[in-house]
Amino acid sequence: MASERHFSPVDRLLLQADAALRTLLPFSGQPTRPSPAIVQPESELDEQQAQHIAGLMRINHTGEVCAQALYQGQALTAKLPQVRQAMEHAADEEIDHLAWCEQRIRQLGSQPSILNPLFYGLSFGVGAAAGLISDRVSLGFVAATEDQVVKHLDDHLQQLPEEDQKSRAILEQMRADEEQHACNALEAGGLRFPAPVKFGMSLLAKVMTSTTYRV
Ligand SMILES: [Fe+2]
Ligand SMILES: [Fe+2]
Repeated sequence: MASERHFSPVDRLLLQADAALRTLLPFSGQPTRPSPAIVQPESELDEQQAQHIAGLMRINHTGEVCAQALYQGQALTAKLPQVRQAMEHAADEEIDHLAWCEQRIRQLGSQPSILNPLFYGLSFGVGAAAGLISDRVSLGFVAATEDQVVKHLDDHLQQLPEEDQKSRAILEQMRADEEQHACNALEAGGLRFPAPVKFGMSLLAKVMTSTTYRV
């Protein structure tokens, strides 16, 4: 009879736990789009190159773990239902990125960061807090984060060896998607964050990138 779904706090908690496990357990993210790497030829990479690229892809993978957590945290505390839906939709799209990065890391003979649960927890808290302040802050946070991700992706695209077409194809598609996410968040009413806030966010990102490159 009821056409609208109402979730109790316990339901919501279980849904959150499910989302966290789907993000953190190996091979559990189901992409809706095939990886752009599939149609690219495999390249001959020496061990040092493969290790470096795996480090870069590990950073990007953890970035996607953070994106999942951020969106889940925001969706939990978003006030307007349409904002909540937009967050959940964006989180679905990031699952593609998450799965593509993981596939590439494994192809390169490496594994995702062991620090992922820690970064998931931190990002979830930040997302939930932003959502509690206001939907505009929450959406602004998405826009600022995506801007930063695009900068990282540009840097990584420059660092990739010319011959690694597979990783390049993944990062280029991600870059296009993240740019769109930033645009959508601002169009939905997201605040444009001032430079000092963005600077603080970039310092936090530095901690993440320098640790997950290695482990
Ligand atoms: Fe992403
Ligand atoms: Fe994104």
